[in-house]
Amino acid sequence: MSTDNLLKTITVIGSGYVGVTSAALFANAGFKVYALEINPKRLAAIKRGKSFFYEEYLNPLLSRAVSSGSLVGTDSYEQAIPDSDVIFSCVGTPDNPDGSSNLSYVFASAREVAQYAKKGAVFAQKSTVPVGTGIEIEQLFREAGADIGYVSNPEFLREGTALFDSLWPDRLVVGGSSDVANKSVMAVYKSVIDHRNDIAKFVGMEIDAAIRDNQPRYLSTSRNSAELMKVSANAFLALKISFANSIAKLADAAGADVVEVMDGIGCDTRINRAFLSAGRGYGGGCFPKDVSGLISSGLKYGIDLQIMQAVSTENESMPGYLLEKVVKHLNGTSLAGKKVAVLGAAFKAGTSDMRRSPAARIVDLLISKLEANVYIHDPEAFKEEGFDAEINRNATIVATTEDAMKQAEIVVIATDWNHYKSYPIESYAELMAGNLIVDGMNCLDPKTVRAAGLNYIGVGR
Ligand code: UGA
Repeated sequence: MSTDNLLKTITVIGSGYVGVTSAALFANAGFKVYALEINPKRLAAIKRGKSFFYEEYLNPLLSRAVSSGSLVGTDSYEQAIPDSDVIFSCVGTPDNPDGSSNLSYVFASAREVAQYAKKGAVFAQKSTVPVGTGIEIEQLFREAGADIGYVSNPEFLREGTALFDSLWPDRLVVGGSSDVANKSVMAVYKSVIDHRNDIAKFVGMEIDAAIRDNQPRYLSTSRNSAELMKVSANAFLALKISFANSIAKLADAAGADVVEVMDGIGCDTRINRAFLSAGRGYGGGCFPKDVSGLISSGLKYGIDLQIMQAVSTENESMPGYLLEKVVKHLNGTSLAGKKVAVLGAAFKAGTSDMRRSPAARIVDLLISKLEANVYIHDPEAFKEEGFDAEINRNATIVATTEDAMKQAEIVVIATDWNHYKSYPIESYAELMAGNLIVDGMNCLDPKTVRAAGLNYIGVGR
């Protein structure tokens, strides 16, 4: 590790998915970092050099930083903030029942920072906030007499590939009116980029030679543009997914394969194949919340974002649509009391996060509508305490794929973990009592499944 940053001290407020990843990287890039977390369980995990959630490569970085003393976990603003040159706010912004963002943690942490920060410190907002929030926090700082710079610093990492996304980002964005403040936040990221090869090597992350030297675009924008950019980026990706899902329904009706359709249109560089995979819909802590947050922001400013309402409605319909296909296939045969295996619980592969997971919706519908006896497996989601609370309590959580599939009438793939994709299809056939594979992620090859003597249902194929 270089010594050039040792005099710079950073606080990362909030040890959620973004906060822990950022704190680990800053600490491994040579900064002294406080991870400020008020949840005792999350804080205890940090102090042990561990994360409360599963993310590949993260724990070795946390563990190295905690044992070297460059990362310090604390629940005290008084301890962390007075020393800090840059303070990153990564607190949660859950949604209110009306779809708007609940900003109570954002304002509470800003108030604490205003109380303790030294003159000239910079507050970088990484929490996803609706456009117009920064101006209110600047006002709060002024009223508190705190001489602190404010920068909107949206985060674009994905769970499951968080470390790669942070080390090889497409763009880094700072939005604020002070050049000095913008520069000091950007300097932190530049330092991470300078250290990225060492960090990747340390955790054993393989980087394709073709992209190893790729540099991010460094964008300096207005505060409001940066805020709106973040939510709009997520909303646009959600829109692509819902577009693919509506074409999938048409493909089902018309006898086309949505995967072939999307592969074809994705060749157009103006469109791009990413986020056009149809399936059981999107979930997680970001897309559902950001789509409804954008609708709310629109309403606040008198703009009716009907297009985003349609994105959300389409997405909500997908778990039910998948099961309607199953019911049609069964042609009157009841699933009541029969064993159904659901493979995957997390909202996507590579994470233990189950927030708004479509897999949980599928389980609910299987139990409440079809009265099935559901056995669910996930390689990571159930390891952390409390995660099973997201799953219908009548579902049986099992430890192995085999326990789920043994004697099942139907296997539903709800999250496309590599383990399920690479599991030999003959073993599916051997373990099951029935013969129906429901591929909610379109991640298996229908021909291979059928060649093994099984029936296949996908989304739009
Ligand atoms: C998303 C964005 O991709 C990140 O850029 C952003 O930083 C992050 O939200 C955030 O705001 O913090 P994330 O929610 O971790 O990242 O996961 P994604 O990879 O975007 O997937 C979201 C959902 O869309 C998952 O349920 C996934 O299964 C689904 N999805 C994704 C599809 O159904 N089809 C696709 O083609 C792609």
